[in-house]
Amino acid sequence: MSSSTQVSLTGITTTGTPHLGNFAGAIRPAIAASRRDDVQSYYFLADYHSLAKTHDVAALSVSTLEIAATWLALGLDPDRVTFYRQSDIPEIPELTWILSGVTAKGLMNRAHAYKAAVADNEAAGSRDPDKGITMALFGYPLLMAADILMFRATHVPVGRDQKQHLEMARDIATRFNHVYGDVLTVPEPVIDDNTATLAGLDGRKMSKSYNNTIPLFIPAKKLRKLIMKIRTNSLEPGEPKDPDGCSLYSIYRAFATDAQAAEVRQAYADGIGWGDMKQRLFEHLDAILAEPRERYDALMADPAKIESQLHAGAEKARTVSREVLAEVRHAIGIRPLG
Ligand code: TRP
Repeated sequence: MSSSTQVSLTGITTTGTPHLGNFAGAIRPAIAASRRDDVQSYYFLADYHSLAKTHDVAALSVSTLEIAATWLALGLDPDRVTFYRQSDIPEIPELTWILSGVTAKGLMNRAHAYKAAVADNEAAGSRDPDKGITMALFGYPLLMAADILMFRATHVPVGRDQKQHLEMARDIATRFNHVYGDVLTVPEPVIDDNTATLAGLDGRKMSKSYNNTIPLFIPAKKLRKLIMKIRTNSLEPGEPKDPDGCSLYSIYRAFATDAQAAEVRQAYADGIGWGDMKQRLFEHLDAILAEPRERYDALMADPAKIESQLHAGAEKARTVSREVLAEVRHAIGIRPLG
């Protein structure tokens, strides 16, 4: 590529409702990055990827709406970035198929998610190691490679759990270029090990799969109720407490300045009661979330507006994806005959 602008791209699978952990770990840094002038950013809703995880029809569309509304409410500016829905870009599944022609089945066999599903079957004593495993789960890394290569992404910020998928995308691009000439851009993973991980209601990592999350945009009253449910130990008010390893502190820390965090650490040392600390956490979070919550509620009440924003994003994205696909098709010999 002649241009030296960094092209950053990341996808969000449309399963579940965004929670505080997603905000601190993924959404907040992504929105901050989207404000940089030297980076061209693509953010998309990976709705086709969700088919590898669930067949819940209603949940797919609700989650798509919730995630789009969340990103917009938190300040993603669709004029600065390209924000779209994967299924609005028909070139992506086309590229997926083309890439399947240069992708070894053995490469997919090595994907962690697929291997884990096979291991579960074996542990359950199933005679078929592939029992219940769909082609969508098996081919997941291939679709993800197409997402990335479609827009000539140079940088892909992802969680550590996605690192292998990025390596596969690099392998596939390199293989394609080896066979057909230098057409695709080989992407670099960007893995930030400093991103905040929050503890959930039960003290384990906040995660949809543990069912221990605090959704971002629930009404203030519900937010308070959930915070009151966070598990703590049985130390009494007045007894000094350890902030490290405390769920309340881990959540507070992710949304506080260093000075605020130091103040709360002092309060722990001084023996703040759990009830008081929970109230303090609630008030702190509510002050941060109140404004975006209003924007979120307004967006959720107007899904047609989100739909049209996604369409505009897809149009913008397709100016690139059409061109790249045309180049790819030409390179592989799918060309006008005369
Ligand atoms: N697999 C990613 C996840 O579960 C989501 C995703 C889909 C993605 N396509 C992508 C991330 C392309 C980065 C680039 O988190």
